[in-house]
Amino acid sequence: MSFPVVRNRRLRGTAAIRNLVRENSLSVHDLVQPIFVTFGHNIKHEIESMPGVYHFSLDRLEEEIKEITGLGLQAILLFGVPEHKDAEGTSAFAEDGIVQQATRLIKQWNPNLLVIADTCLCQFTDTGHCGVIHHHPVTGQADVANDASLELLVQTAISQAKAGADIIAPSNMMDGYVHAIRSGLDEAGYEQVPVMAYSVKYSSAYYGPFRDAVHSSPQFGDRKTYQMDPANAREAMREAENDVLEGADFLMVKPALAYMDIIRMLKENFDLPVVAYNVSAEYSMVKAAAIQGWVNEQAIVMETMLGFKRAGADIILTYFAKDIAGWLRAE
Ligand code: PBG
Ligand code: ZN
Repeated sequence: MSFPVVRNRRLRGTAAIRNLVRENSLSVHDLVQPIFVTFGHNIKHEIESMPGVYHFSLDRLEEEIKEITGLGLQAILLFGVPEHKDAEGTSAFAEDGIVQQATRLIKQWNPNLLVIADTCLCQFTDTGHCGVIHHHPVTGQADVANDASLELLVQTAISQAKAGADIIAPSNMMDGYVHAIRSGLDEAGYEQVPVMAYSVKYSSAYYGPFRDAVHSSPQFGDRKTYQMDPANAREAMREAENDVLEGADFLMVKPALAYMDIIRMLKENFDLPVVAYNVSAEYSMVKAAAIQGWVNEQAIVMETMLGFKRAGADIILTYFAKDIAGWLRAE
């Protein structure tokens, strides 16, 4: 009888040998927990389509920050739900805007926690778009004006840095946004504040629960004139390359699960840290199945996170961050 020449099972026989040869691992330091802050008092409201994720008013935020840091997490991504919206999204860059207020408080409570500020206008504009609207001179078609939006985004980034944000994370997908924000920050004296560019952001149905959560669904049309077409991969290289040349410090891929090939491409072609955004519907789908008892939540989540790491992600933004931190600690 002829025996197998290669026996891969030799390296799988015990937990110790599997630990010895493991290629990838997940650390609490890889994770970023997104947080939603809102106006009002004594608010800790669960987001219906994202069980386990809450809106916090500023007076309930400290308890959440304590829980997060207590779990060993060292970074959060801050989203604001403003009191009022207008055409230019002015509350995105107001001195007393919700994100600015939350940032100041968090940095007071815990200067070591990295506050990453999402820089976009869609929660703050009455149109729900990521910039200001202009109309095509001939057809009258409404669209997001690129350069006029950049000016407002730069103001937003500066106001966030001024409030103490450690990292600026622009998610607006305007052309030239990294260059505009980088120069704006530099001129304002924030040359040490890094830009985490949402370089490759697809126009995706996976943002559905997030848009419910922050009331940012576009009031007309969609985001396809600025976010990327899910069919394209080579174009992702162009987006990332532009951002590298414009001074980005991190490159993000969003969503993550359906775009693992893009994570890998960025990892192989650039030497900046690669960030995977495990977005809202990726969270909600797992939660929904877990609540039904159809999947083992912890096992599914940990396997997914390892998948992101294996694909090349250095950093993972995920609504599961707190859960994962707890599981890693219990191990
Ligand atoms: C806004 C923004 C979006 C997300 C983060 N910032 C959604 C969008 O483009 O509508 C999505 C996050 C998620 O789904 O978890 N620019
Ligand atoms: Zn936006």
